[in-house]
Amino acid sequence: MPLVRWYRDMRWPLVLVLALAPSAHAESKVPDHEASPYDAAAVKAQVAALADPALDGRASGSEGDAAGRALIRARLDALGLSPKEQAFDDDAGHATANILATLPGSDADAGIVIVGAHHDHLGHKHLGANDNASGVAAMLAIADALHGTQPRRTIVFAAWGAEERGEEGSAYFVKHPTIDLDHVVEYINLDMVGSYSARGWVAAMGTFKKLPATAMLEAGKKAFPRLSVGIGGRAERSDHEAFCEQGVPYVFFWTPDDRCYHETCDTTDKLDAAHMAQIAALAGDLVSRLANSKQDLLASRAKLGCFGR
Ligand code: PHE
Ligand code: ZN
Ligand code: ZN
Repeated sequence: MPLVRWYRDMRWPLVLVLALAPSAHAESKVPDHEASPYDAAAVKAQVAALADPALDGRASGSEGDAAGRALIRARLDALGLSPKEQAFDDDAGHATANILATLPGSDADAGIVIVGAHHDHLGHKHLGANDNASGVAAMLAIADALHGTQPRRTIVFAAWGAEERGEEGSAYFVKHPTIDLDHVVEYINLDMVGSYSARGWVAAMGTFKKLPATAMLEAGKKAFPRLSVGIGGRAERSDHEAFCEQGVPYVFFWTPDDRCYHETCDTTDKLDAAHMAQIAALAGDLVSRLANSKQDLLASRAKLGCFGR
């Protein structure tokens, strides 16, 4: 039997062996993309790759930022989603970029759903596993789950740069859009989704009563009995803001946790990988519902904007 097959079939026994063999440590960090898109170990491995000390926390414009972007592009490339970089300089004059990848829908007039997460963090030994390797890993898991399908609406997967310097990448995108912003029916934001166990719930900010996404999330969460989902509430200071200002409704998934927020202890080992993968799956389910809904979401956006009033 080829070694790779044996590895796949024998995953659990091998993991036990690896745990006893310190020299195999590096190998255990390689993301396992053979697994299901929402496999907790695979999502955690993707976080570990982005929050690896070698990238030193992906500070905007740093070598680690470029290395992190290369990992994200490689993954989207492997999924056949042809990622493009949108280069820009952050406020300190350092070169960075947003990454954008499109999954075309069958109905070009039905609008666009964007799923985004910021890829940068603070750097200088702040590795940003939860903030925001977790969000990027969740976005990539959703891309994995949905690539190869043809949704009704176009889905754009986005990884924003320079969020930590003041949501600069998403603001740059809205100022210099590569798609028709008037066609965006929803923005799904993922920022810090790896610390569910801190409070025992995930916030879904922006889910105001009248908004179509709110009912879709209420329906979708029934399939996730292990998740307690906090509905409603306005959020600030993340990449949804630029979209909200344009009248685009958003849902922002976030697991609040002060303990290692912007501290050097925000490392992969602290994360609640099981719930992180479930949150990615819940967000992915919402993206599918939004992308395939028969409702006129463009009309709803025009009427209700991002606050549902
Ligand atoms: N966007 C903030 C950061 O990356 C975190 C944040 C989450 C802020 C939720 C407000 C609400 O540091
Ligand atoms: Zn963040
Ligand atoms: Zn942050």
